[in-house]
Amino acid sequence: MSRLAILGASGHGKVVADTAECCDWLHVEFFDDAWPLSPRNGGWPVVGDTVALLDRLNEFDGVVVAIGNNRIRNTKLLELQAKGAQLVTLVHPAACVSRYSSIGVGSVVFAGAVVNADACIGMGSILNTGCSIDHDCVLGNAVHVSPGARLAGGVQVGEQSWVGIGASVRQLIRIGARVVVGASAAVVADVPDDVTVVGVPARVLVS
Ligand SMILES: CC(C)(COP(=O)(O)OP(=O)(O)OC[C@H]1O[C@@H](n2cnc3c(N)ncnc32)[C@H](O)[C@@H]1OP(=O)(O)O)[C@@H](O)C(=O)NCCC(=O)NCCS
Repeated sequence: MSRLAILGASGHGKVVADTAECCDWLHVEFFDDAWPLSPRNGGWPVVGDTVALLDRLNEFDGVVVAIGNNRIRNTKLLELQAKGAQLVTLVHPAACVSRYSSIGVGSVVFAGAVVNADACIGMGSILNTGCSIDHDCVLGNAVHVSPGARLAGGVQVGEQSWVGIGASVRQLIRIGARVVVGASAAVVADVPDDVTVVGVPARVLVS
């Protein structure tokens, strides 16, 4: 593996780049729509925007999208996929991923994450540092499970949902699409689409 392009030069992007190097990608370059305002992201160069990446796809052996916003990440992934980009999945060597699970293309799994048997993760997902996805969980596309969040067995999470840092989800719970689960929440009942839930036990946050 040689050249990897990462779209999204953020702090999250740095962790993706670091993970990529741990996965033996030798040469990592960033693209970001804020280019050329900031030419570097940590130790890595930012060399162009999305348009430049689409022009230069054939120079890269792999592409990953490192944008934290689930909706935007999903849109960019689909755009890149439609243009024939070689989307890759990155699994940090210090993650523990069951051979009986499946991880969708374009996803990233950071150090300390655990994915147990028969879990099924959609494309473009973020399994952040030290999170835990137990057996038989099913996650839709572009889901983000934040650092230290825990999903018990058989939990379902709809597309583009975000499970906040340190949250816990009871077994067999169904979380809808585009849901935000607040930091440290304890989810003990099903959650409908398009809501934010917070607290212990988690309740819908009314704005
Ligand atoms: C849930 C969340 C998205 C709400 O953000 P927000 O819409 O900006 O809401 P606010 O901060 O204005 O808070 C609104 C109310 O909800 C409460 N609240 C916010 N987050 C809460 C949480 N995690 N648990 C309990 N209450 C929370 C606030 O205290 C506030 O209550 P008040 O109206 O009585 O004062 C956010 O607080 C959160 O938890 N984000 C997850 C962060 C995370 O996981 N980061 C990891 C990145 S890798």
